[in-house]
Parts: sequence; structure tokens; C-alpha cells
Amino acid sequence: MPEVVLRGFGWRHAGRKAWAVRGVDLNIQHGERVLLLGPSGAGKSTLLAALAGLLPEDSGEGEGSVTIDGRDPRVRETSGLLFQDPQTQLVMARSGDDVAFGLENRGVPENDIWPRVSDALDRVGFPYPITRPANALSGGEQQRLALAGVLALRPGLLLLDEPTANLDPQGAELVREAIARSLDQDTTLILIEHRVAEALPLVDRAIVLEPGGGVLADGAPEVVFAGHGPSLAGQGIWVPGYQLPQHRAVSRPGDSLVRAESVTVRDRLDEISLAVHAGEVLAMTGPNGVGKSTLALVMGGLLAPGPGRVHAFEDPKPPHRWRAAQLTQRIGSVFQNPEHQFVTAKVADELALGPRRLGRSPAEVTATVDELLERLRLTRLAGANPYTLSGGEARRLSVATALATAPRVLILDEPTFGQDRRTWIDLVALLARLRDEGHGILAVTHDDAFVASLADRVHDLTPAPPLPRRYSAFPSRDWPS
Ligand SMILES: Nc1ncnc2c1ncn2[C@@H]1O[C@H](COP(=O)(O)OP(=O)(O)OP(=O)(O)O)[C@@H](O)[C@H]1O
Ligand SMILES: [Mg+2]
Repeated sequence: MPEVVLRGFGWRHAGRKAWAVRGVDLNIQHGERVLLLGPSGAGKSTLLAALAGLLPEDSGEGEGSVTIDGRDPRVRETSGLLFQDPQTQLVMARSGDDVAFGLENRGVPENDIWPRVSDALDRVGFPYPITRPANALSGGEQQRLALAGVLALRPGLLLLDEPTANLDPQGAELVREAIARSLDQDTTLILIEHRVAEALPLVDRAIVLEPGGGVLADGAPEVVFAGHGPSLAGQGIWVPGYQLPQHRAVSRPGDSLVRAESVTVRDRLDEISLAVHAGEVLAMTGPNGVGKSTLALVMGGLLAPGPGRVHAFEDPKPPHRWRAAQLTQRIGSVFQNPEHQFVTAKVADELALGPRRLGRSPAEVTATVDELLERLRLTRLAGANPYTLSGGEARRLSVATALATAPRVLILDEPTFGQDRRTWIDLVALLARLRDEGHGILAVTHDDAFVASLADRVHDLTPAPPLPRRYSAFPSRDWPS
């Protein structure tokens, strides 16, 4: 008997006219490893939430049925779900307590808890003691901690929602290895991951959700991609081996718009200098935790530089001393997790906020909002609450809010995070157009495709390896002088 059975399954979230997912019929056998695909907003996370028993009846309208081993997942929890945003999953101050929390919740006997905590932390290669504060972890480390919390439950059905989005390539590889290590023949895996190529070694079946409802393709990955490659790529699936558009700058970069001189970030010893010029896209790369986001905040005038200086727009004052209105007109920033900072109850209002504050006329505001909604495929969500958007939709909205005031400089932290192939192509084309109109763009990114397609220059923040002792800048005392 198959483990997971969906019959005509559908779900419409409360407050929405459209169904998030509909007409899905699936059987998934014990031990299968499934890659769940579909464009942004196709209902992947909603389907996973249903399997985890996390769609309470009063939170929307259901259709059809979902069962796990014949039972309603809302009645008995047998699965473990890793959320799209690991920060929503971490609840305790100390890392070990966070993993223990889920076990306590499920009534695991006291004596078994700590051995299972340390076993799960070992499996994900967690490099710190269990007392390590969870808020002192980098994004990739938090992701691995959250995964340990799920693995410790020893779920028969492992549900992972984009477990490696936002991680540097090395961190993502570590998480994938941790997943591979934790799979045995008794574990069924359902994995959501936009970037197909990296996920393929973990799975033996691919299921593609059709945005309007139903299943577009289902089978062994090589068969699915061979048979439907072009149409899937057109729908937004990252089918391996498909080319992406290249956007080379049409002219040479102009003057420097924002310049950091000898600033230091976090506990790095080296001083960093970099400038964003008019008409260029500068990509800032480097591993998780290296200080990219901090430097982006400093360049964006949202954080005072420690040592060092930031100059911008030939203003004698540094950007962090500017008035708010002046800052939004000149520099627009998108943070790493802006999804936690939406301030209105409607997508269209969120976009209108900046231009309204700058005193633009109602007609201008409407034109700006409508254009951005259209270009970023958010029009049908104009009336939705920003906090109910899917991961990819929320990220597009956050980028759009920064573009709405048309600032000369854009500082974007992971702008392409969680995008399907089609929304990615749209977003990159929009940024390319802004660059060619003379805007300067600084993008913090782990996305190699973004760098290859759009970046004019790359500033890599990877720390240099420590100098061999012999060449140390501070000769030891017993050295002959
Ligand atoms: N809590 C919610 N309330 C209302 N609508 C929601 C809620 N969560 C998701 N939606 C909507 O349901 C649809 C499906 O969302 P879902 O998060 O399942 O998509 P997804 O396939 O996971 O997308 P992504 O790839 O962008 O993460 C979207 O239109 C989304 O805006
Ligand atoms: Mg999702």
C-alpha cells in the first residue's frame, strides 16, 4: 500500500479567491525519493504543509483527501517538515535545546532525548557544542541546525522545503550531504528545490505541479526532463542544461555613486574598499557569514561604518546620516530577510508606500505600482496580504518595493532567492534595463547564474587563507632581524 495518497486534493487559503493547489492525484510508496517541482506560487509549500498536517480546517477550504498510511496527517504526526525559512523553525536560545524541543513535544522518553540530539547534530555535521547560541549561527549553520531538529524526530516521511536556498555553494553541498546521509530505505523523501541539477542525486522521481491545478509531469527525472524539457523550461522549471539570456552592459560604467573606503565588517581584520558606479552591476560574493550583508547595510546607509568611511552622491555627509526621504530617493536596499519587514496589509500598498512618501502624484504612484506588479508577475496578488505570499513571491515583492522609488543605487541582498526560471529571467532582465539606464546595482549573491548573466564586476569577500607562519607580517621575536 502506498504511504502517501492524494485524491483530488485541493486547498484554498482563507482570504484567497484562487486555489493554491488543486486536482492533485498522487501515490507515493514507502522509501521513494521525490523532487516536487513547479513554478513559484504553484502550491508546492502548501502541499507539503498538508502532508505535515499543518493546514488546520479553519485556515482555508479543502477538497479531496490526503492520507499517510491511511490516516489524516492532522490527526497523527508522522512526518518531519523543514520549512522554507529556517528562522521560523528555530525557537530556543541554545542550539541543542532547539533540537531537543521537538522531541519533548512528541513525548520522547527523557533518557532518549540527548543521545538523539547529539546523533542528529553529528549527522548534519554541526561544528559547535550544543550550548552554542542559535542566533550566533550563520544562515547555513542555522539551516543545518533546523535540519537536525527534523532528523532527530526520525520521521518516516521527510519533507524538505528548499533546504539549501540562500546558502553558499559549499554550505548547500554540506546540507545535501547531510540529507543523503540521513536517508535509508525506510525513509520517504519529498524535497522541494528550484535548482534541479543539484537536487537530482538525492531523488529517483520528479513530480511537477501545474499552476492551474493537477500534475504536469511525473516519473523518473531523466524521463520527465527528456520528454517535457522545453515545455517545462517555458513554465519556469530549471531544467538542467538550458541556456539563460546574457545581459552585457551597453556602455562603460560612469562615475562612482557610493564608495566605501577602508571599512571593516564583523570580526574581519582586513579593510575593504569598493565602489558602485553608475551603469554597472557589481556582484558581491563569498561564503555565508563572511560579512556581505553587513557590508551591504553599510553601503546602503542603514548602518554606520565602524572604522572607515562611506561617501556617496558627492554629499559631505555619509549616507547613514542622511534623512530618510533623501536616502530612499538615492539608495534602495533589499535585505536578506525583508519578508519579515513588510509594513502594510496589501501587496499594492506595500509598493505604493515609498513613492507616496516622496510626494508622487496618485496617477504616478498607480502607474509605478501597476508596472512593477506586471513585470514581476505579481498582478494577481495585488490585493493579497504580503505575509501570506509564497517564498518566491515575497522575495519579488521585496525587490519591487526597492525599485518603486527608482533610486539611482540599488543594493540587493540575494535578489534571485527562491525564483523559478521564468520569474528569474524577468527579474534579471528588469535589473539589466535599470543598469543600462544608468542605475548602479550592488548585488550580494550566491547565485552563479546571476553573476554569469548580469554582473559586470565581482567583488569576492572570501577571506584570504592565513599566511604561512614564516611570511607573517609580524616576525616572531626569535627571528634573526
Ligand atoms: N497562508 C497563506 N494565506 C493565503 N495565501 C497563501 C498562503 N500561503 C500561500 N498562499 C498562496 O498560495 C499560492 C501557493 O503558495 P505556495 O507557498 O504553496 O507556493 P510555492 O509553490 O511553494 O511557491 P514558491 O516556489 O514561490 O515558494 C500562492 O499564490 C500564495 O500566494
Ligand atoms: Mg514555497
